[in-house]
Amino acid sequence: MYRIKTMNKISSTGLDHLDKSRFQVGDDLENEDGILVRSAPMHDYPFPDALRAIARAGAGTNNIPIDRCSEHGIVVFNTPGANANAVKELVVAAMLIASRDLLGGADWVQEQAHTPKVDVVEAVEKGKSAFVGPEIYKKTLGVIGLGAIGALVCNIALDLGMDVYGYDPFLSVDAALRLDRHVHVVKDINELYRVSDYVTIHIPYNSSTKDFINAEAISKMKGQVRVLNLARGGLVNEDDMIEALESGRVAKYVTDFPNNRIATVKNVIALPHLGASTPESEENCAVMAVRQLQDYLVNGNIKNSVNLPNVSQDWSGTARLCIIHKNVPAMLTQIMSTLSDDGINVENMTNKSKKDYAYTLVDVNTRITDQVADELRSIDGVIRVRVLNH
Ligand SMILES: NC(=O)c1ccc[n+]([C@@H]2O[C@H](COP(=O)([O-])OP(=O)(O)OC[C@H]3O[C@@H](n4cnc5c(N)ncnc54)[C@H](O)[C@@H]3O)[C@@H](O)[C@H]2O)c1
Repeated sequence: MYRIKTMNKISSTGLDHLDKSRFQVGDDLENEDGILVRSAPMHDYPFPDALRAIARAGAGTNNIPIDRCSEHGIVVFNTPGANANAVKELVVAAMLIASRDLLGGADWVQEQAHTPKVDVVEAVEKGKSAFVGPEIYKKTLGVIGLGAIGALVCNIALDLGMDVYGYDPFLSVDAALRLDRHVHVVKDINELYRVSDYVTIHIPYNSSTKDFINAEAISKMKGQVRVLNLARGGLVNEDDMIEALESGRVAKYVTDFPNNRIATVKNVIALPHLGASTPESEENCAVMAVRQLQDYLVNGNIKNSVNLPNVSQDWSGTARLCIIHKNVPAMLTQIMSTLSDDGINVENMTNKSKKDYAYTLVDVNTRITDQVADELRSIDGVIRVRVLNH
C-alpha cells in the first residue's frame, strides 16, 4: 500500500482517481510515500524516509523547499494550467473593479438603504458620480508573463476590445502557440510599461523575480496606471507601491495577497487570495495532481515536475529501475555497466536531465535483487533508486 498524506483539503473528485486497492489516504499518516498539498507551508517540514514525491495542486511551488527535495530525490509536481481559467476570470473582474468603484458603490448603496428616511432612488442619482470610472474597451493592457494564465488573459483582453502588450523573455513554443497573433509581444519591458493603462503580472515568485514591480518599474509606467497582482505578493515591492499610490502615480493596486499593511492603504483593492478558488479549478488541480503522483509512484513516470525532467515510458520488461541522479558525465555508462556486470539485459531505457538533476528509467527482463539496487545506489551522484515490478 502507498501512503498519501494530504496537507490541505484536496477535492474528493481528485482523490477518487486513486486506486483504493493500492493507496491509503489521510491527513495524519506517518512515513508517507507521497504528499498532496495546496498552500500549506512545507519549508520546515521534516521529510520522512519513505517520501518520494510531493504533488502541489496548483501552479506556484514557493511553499515547497524545492532544492531540499531535489537533494533527497523527492519529485515535486505541480499542475500547470489547471487553474488558469479561474485566475483569468478574476483578472477581468480586477480590471473592472479597478476602473469603476463597483465595490465602493455597492457598499454605499447598502448604507443608503439602511439609513432611515433615505430614498435610495433619489440618493443614487445624486451620489453616483463618486463611483464612476473609465471603460476598459480600447485601453491598453500589459501582461508580464505569457504562460498558462498570461496567455488566457491576453486573449480575453483582446476579445474585450483592448490593445494587448505581452512580455516574457522565456516564452516556450507551446505558450507562444496559445497566444493570439494580435498580442504585441515586446522584448523590452519598458515598451510595455510606457503604453499600458493596466499592468498585470503572471510570473512565478522566486529570488530573481522578488520586487519585480518596484519604484524603477513604476517610474517607467504611465501616470494613473492600474496595477494588478494576482500572482504573488512578493513580486511587488510594497513600500514602492504604497509611495506610488500616495503620490497618485498608480491609480489602483489590486492584490490577491493582502496583509495588515497593504490592505488599509487608499486605492488598494485587496482580495482574499481568490485566484484559483473556484470549484472547477480546485477539481482540475486535484485530479491532475493525483494522476501525476499515482503515475510516478506506480510506474515511475514523471509529468509536470518542477525539479526533474518529464520522462514517460511504456512498460516493456518485468522490472523497472527509477534512478534519480546528478546530471554529471559518465552516469549512464556506470548504470549500464553495473547492470551488464550482473548479467541483466536492458529492454528499454530513457534518460533526461533538468538543470543539475537527471532521471533514468530502465526496463529489464529479470527481477532486480537488493544487491543490484544497492550497487546502483553506491554510484557517486546517484540520489535515489526505486525498483518497481510489473
Ligand atoms: N492568485 C492565485 O491564487 C494564483 C493562482 C494560480 C497561479 N498563481 C500565480 O501565477 C503564476 C503564473 O501562473 P501560470 O500558471 O501562468 O504559470 P506558467 O508557468 O504557465 O507561466 C509563467 C510564465 O512566466 C514567465 N516568466 C518567468 N520569469 C519571468 C520574468 N522574469 N519575466 C517575464 N516572464 C517570466 C515564464 O516564461 C512563463 O511563461 C504562478 O507562478 C503563481 O504564483 C496565483
